[in-house]
Amino acid sequence: MDNDRKMAVAANRQAWNESAALHKAGEQWAQLVQQVSGPGFSCFDETMSDALHRIDLRGKSVVQVGCNNGREVLSLAKFGAERCLGIDQAEAFIAQAEELNRIAGQDCRFLRADIYDLPADVPRNFDLVLITIGVLNWMPDLEGFFRVVAGLLREGGQVLIYETHPFLEMFEPSAADPYLLANSYFRTRPFVDSDPIVYDGVKDGEVTPSYWFIHKISDVLNGCISAGLQIVRFDEFPHSNREVEYDCYEEQAAQLPMCYVLQACKSR
Ligand SMILES: C[S@@+](CC[C@H](N)C(=O)[O-])C[C@H]1O[C@@H](n2cnc3c(N)ncnc32)[C@H](O)[C@@H]1O
Repeated sequence: MDNDRKMAVAANRQAWNESAALHKAGEQWAQLVQQVSGPGFSCFDETMSDALHRIDLRGKSVVQVGCNNGREVLSLAKFGAERCLGIDQAEAFIAQAEELNRIAGQDCRFLRADIYDLPADVPRNFDLVLITIGVLNWMPDLEGFFRVVAGLLREGGQVLIYETHPFLEMFEPSAADPYLLANSYFRTRPFVDSDPIVYDGVKDGEVTPSYWFIHKISDVLNGCISAGLQIVRFDEFPHSNREVEYDCYEEQAAQLPMCYVLQACKSR
């Protein structure tokens, strides 16, 4: 398992690094560069903003795991957070995050590290660990992941997860019938894909094959519980927070759950 995990994590790092230039060439990057230094910058949607307001981050320390280009770490100032760290294993995205940090004139910190192999000097007393959109599925070992997450928190600290719903993994949005059940909800083998990892559907070329792991909602809940995290709140939503291909599942009469927010607290 350890070797499989290391192999998948290393391949994913390479695939993300190879996809980084595409993210910088896209419209979203140009918009970020324009907006990130603006007063009250936030790229969070209403769902996430509501969840962050409920927690009250004023004066709090936050670490985001899988922070990508740092846009969400840089949005936390608007919510009053004061010491913010972003961790991501892809150096090309940490470089983008540092560039945005400079443009924004903020003093967030960014660290290139594999979450399964954090340096010993990373603080272990954060008030909040943030995990958002498209992070959990890159994790080959969810229980191990939540043990690390719990280890980053002080006692009584919280974890907030805003993720895509695993029900969506049962469908293939690009299929002739996107509603045909294509994959088992209980699938254990990862999807292996050499498409560039992008959010806007433009997938020209190939990158190193990456590994996307399916985790049921019960895996996420049990991962938290076994790491000593108490579930505080769990909400499911009908809107999409993932790649544009999935927009076709929104606003249906028989609506699928498309994303969720999970809040948990490290036991005292
Ligand atoms: C989909 S992105 C997160 C995007 C973010 N939610 C946003 O909206 O900006 C997932 C990130 O997780 C990172 N990642 C994947 N496996 C990781 C690992 N083992 N340790 C640290 N970061 C990892 C990837 O490099 C990638 O930047």
